[in-house]
Amino acid sequence: AVLQLAVLVGSLRAQSFSRKIAKALATRAPDSVRCRFIEIGGLPLYNEDLEGDPPPAWSAFRAAIRECDAVLFVTPEYNRSIPGCLKNALDIGSRPSGKSVFKGLPAGVVSVTPNKLGALGANHALRQTFVFLDMPVLQQPEAYIGNVAELLDEKGAVTNGETSAFLENFMAGLETWIRTVHPGGSSFDT
Ligand code: FNR
Repeated sequence: AVLQLAVLVGSLRAQSFSRKIAKALATRAPDSVRCRFIEIGGLPLYNEDLEGDPPPAWSAFRAAIRECDAVLFVTPEYNRSIPGCLKNALDIGSRPSGKSVFKGLPAGVVSVTPNKLGALGANHALRQTFVFLDMPVLQQPEAYIGNVAELLDEKGAVTNGETSAFLENFMAGLETWIRTVHPGGSSFDT
């Protein structure tokens, strides 16, 4: 069955490098993987007081994740951690207690920065949340995309052959691993 892969981008700006890399990844996904971009910019800040009558945007987000088999996170680094918008989305999806939409979902992480160091801080801060979210995460290959501006052409596409091959290989590896984590899992048959 075709895998439904949720793609969460940790940047809200229109010209986001992270979104461009996420699109480059999606276009290189195997045919047996359907990438679904799920937007997080319209989610009201998490507040437990609202759980009695959750904002419609929260409910729509939770429902969209529930339809997916795995999650690919493509994120920039803010102050050596993940942007607040992404943490907010994780918090919303994780609640109410016992009803987390993320529990058990396999995850992949790609961190992106126009600077050096490949946004390692964000990449690993995100992995720390997976411990409590109970999300198994692809360990290898790791994907730290540094100096990203140099990898994109004026249309925002990845033209560099080495990077292109790396992104394609990452998506293939992610799919193989997801299917290994949940071989023939019933959620994949929908
Ligand atoms: C940044 N930036 C940044 N870069 C980095 O490599 N490490 C960091 O810790 C930070 N911190 C940081 C904090 C805040 C509040 C902003 C706005 C930016 C720079 C960041 O990588 C750059 O703005 C990217 O272009 C953001 O990603 P998108 O929006 O292009 O996907």
